[in-house]
Amino acid sequence: MLLTTLLALCCSTLFAQWGPAPDPFPGKTLKDAYKDYFMIGVAVNRLNVSVPEQAALVRQEFNSMTAENDMKPVSVHPAVGVWHWGAADSIADFARKNGIKLRGHCLCWHSQFADWMFTDKKGRPVKKEVFYQRLREHIHTVVNRYKDVVYAWDVVNEAIADNVRPRFVNGKLEPGTPYRESRHFQLCGDEFIAKAFEFAHEADPNALLFYNDYNECDPGKRDRIYNMVKKMQEAGVPIHGIGMQGHYNIYGPSEEDIDAAITKYAQLVKHIHITELDIRTNTEMGGQLQFSRGEQKPLAPYLQTLQDDQYNRIFKIFRKHKDVIDCVTFWNLGDRDSWLGVNNHPLLFDEQYKPKRSYYAVRDFEATSANATVKEDFVPNPLNQPGQQYPMVNSQGYARFRVVAPDAKSVIVSLGLGGRGGTVLRKDKDGVWTGTTEGPMDPGFHYYHLTIDGGVVNDPGTHNFFGSCRWESGIEIPAPDQDFYQTRMDVAHGNLQQVLFPSASTGEVKRAFVYTPPTYGKLVKGKQQRFPVLYLQHGWGENETSWPLQGCAGIIMDNLIAEGKIQPFIVVMTYGMTNDVKFGHIGEFTAKEFETVLVDELVPYIDKHFLTKPDKWNRAMAGLSMGGMETKLITLRRPEVFGYYGLLSGGQYAPEDIKDPKQVRLIFQSCGSKERPDAIMQSTEALKAAGLPAVGYISEGTAHEFLTWRRSLREMAPLLFKK
Ligand code: G3I
Repeated sequence: MLLTTLLALCCSTLFAQWGPAPDPFPGKTLKDAYKDYFMIGVAVNRLNVSVPEQAALVRQEFNSMTAENDMKPVSVHPAVGVWHWGAADSIADFARKNGIKLRGHCLCWHSQFADWMFTDKKGRPVKKEVFYQRLREHIHTVVNRYKDVVYAWDVVNEAIADNVRPRFVNGKLEPGTPYRESRHFQLCGDEFIAKAFEFAHEADPNALLFYNDYNECDPGKRDRIYNMVKKMQEAGVPIHGIGMQGHYNIYGPSEEDIDAAITKYAQLVKHIHITELDIRTNTEMGGQLQFSRGEQKPLAPYLQTLQDDQYNRIFKIFRKHKDVIDCVTFWNLGDRDSWLGVNNHPLLFDEQYKPKRSYYAVRDFEATSANATVKEDFVPNPLNQPGQQYPMVNSQGYARFRVVAPDAKSVIVSLGLGGRGGTVLRKDKDGVWTGTTEGPMDPGFHYYHLTIDGGVVNDPGTHNFFGSCRWESGIEIPAPDQDFYQTRMDVAHGNLQQVLFPSASTGEVKRAFVYTPPTYGKLVKGKQQRFPVLYLQHGWGENETSWPLQGCAGIIMDNLIAEGKIQPFIVVMTYGMTNDVKFGHIGEFTAKEFETVLVDELVPYIDKHFLTKPDKWNRAMAGLSMGGMETKLITLRRPEVFGYYGLLSGGQYAPEDIKDPKQVRLIFQSCGSKERPDAIMQSTEALKAAGLPAVGYISEGTAHEFLTWRRSLREMAPLLFKK
């Protein structure tokens, strides 16, 4: 249990992007989360309302439904006088039985239509009057059949052209038509639209009647839809609402275009429905049937992050317009049902109908500080490269990024609110990507990197720090107590040096960084003073530079010594041989090889080359995260070497681990308050109860990160080398 938690913790930065997070609000549903905003709907097929697990999910999450295909003309009225109600009825009955509202889709469309309406028995085209009779009979029959359960109808679907192309008519170049040149339009012009709405309104004067279309946020198509609906309404055609299908992708449309479209349509109608929402993980969008089905492979993490972000952003816009949007419908239940195919991963539930991270991004909007006011007191991050303004941090702990990548399709910063996969930047017209974290980051140091179109790179704005087995970018978020690790003019500074020591057991020359206090080497009463030694270990994915650099170990020591809070001592920081451990193999890690390098090669080297007090009561070992795990394994196997133990977010000792209570003078255990503080404090109480010198420390407001460990060093150091 401890080992797995430990590896999960130390790999949290690396593996955070994969796999569904545990449900932070069990039992909360989409329809509950949006009860003060709009209904949440889903397009269903017969299986979705008959297979128990799927039907349960529909009942659980949604309060509106749409028949994906089974109420379309070709499905219910495939031929003259032929009606197939079975599938449509099963969906309507499910809605009735479960008190779920039903949107009717659709009465008049160029696809999946009752094409027999255009021809007579001999296949000859009929006059539009005949076509209107047949259309009227169809609409009245279908609408009346479901009048009790359908509250809104997509009366006419996709009658507007995607693009308007000028064309030659009798050799003369004519401006293109804004209408899709469907059989309906060729027979009737745009009059069929008016007729369809009139027939539907006759059939059910209470139903809300919608014009429904896709690419509805594309400014050109938006204006053509607007002009058509305006023209129809001015002619008295009962168009009550506009259906924005919402077949989007992870790159677009932009919030600005969606916002502009809703604002424009709201000038004409009181009701806007997002009728067919899905967000595919490629660059295609729209309701057309020509699309890429994608390859059968796991979704790349950065694409998942882009999808979360796009869902998060568009729902922010939808919530903003809750006054006119009364329903948002997802076009299919799970990725397995999607018309786009499972490999486009377009929905909130995966192919096993399990909630994906996007589900939480949509449902748990209240949990985020999205509505908080961000103070515009941003200053360059202290760890920036010379002359680099960005990244910036503000007094609240928000971080703002700026990256120039004109041809990139996406730029993601791995730093962001937990469980979201990072912060997605947005490109302006000059190809500059900017973005601010959605909330304040924890105070202190954070590793991060950029993902540009799937490629992991460092932010050219900052210095690099070794973490996650690579040199990552680093950012420093202001902390209320940050003085203890600030380089101060008014204190004497010690020395940090690199040493290279021979390791016979590995056949390599290894490196360690050694901090010596300001008085090191100075004569006291004519004699060179000797010092105790703390061996301080890093975590998984880090190395011997981590404590000296992002840990600020030397600066913390200088300030503690200057404040007289500690007796000076030496700190040795070497590589813990942790990074070859693969995920899932933590159980096999014994730290045996590192024990030999540390205890049998480095300790003797340090005692030989530095002014140390070479005995266990002047030697301590401590480590963060996996370095803590190593500390526990080695101190228990080699009780003769170290007299003081420190586990920093690195697990706990149990009383029975300590064979001889006199073998140790301090057991220091710590973690951040966002980790498992109870475990630390309960363990410390148990050790104390067993008569062992245990001290526990919890760093307020931090998680498995360096400020927890900087503070832990500040708290542990004064307790070391005490009799
Ligand atoms: O029912 C036949 C079945 O008998 C046959 O064995 C099978 C083999 O091809 O085809 C089945 O018909 C399919 C039908 O879905 C029912 O599954 C059609 O081939 C297929 O083209 C049809 O696709 C539907 C598409 O509209 C048709 O245009 C999608 O499922 C449906 O999601 C999609 O939905 C449209 C909205 O109605 C309007 N907006 C765009 C949206 C996406 O195109």
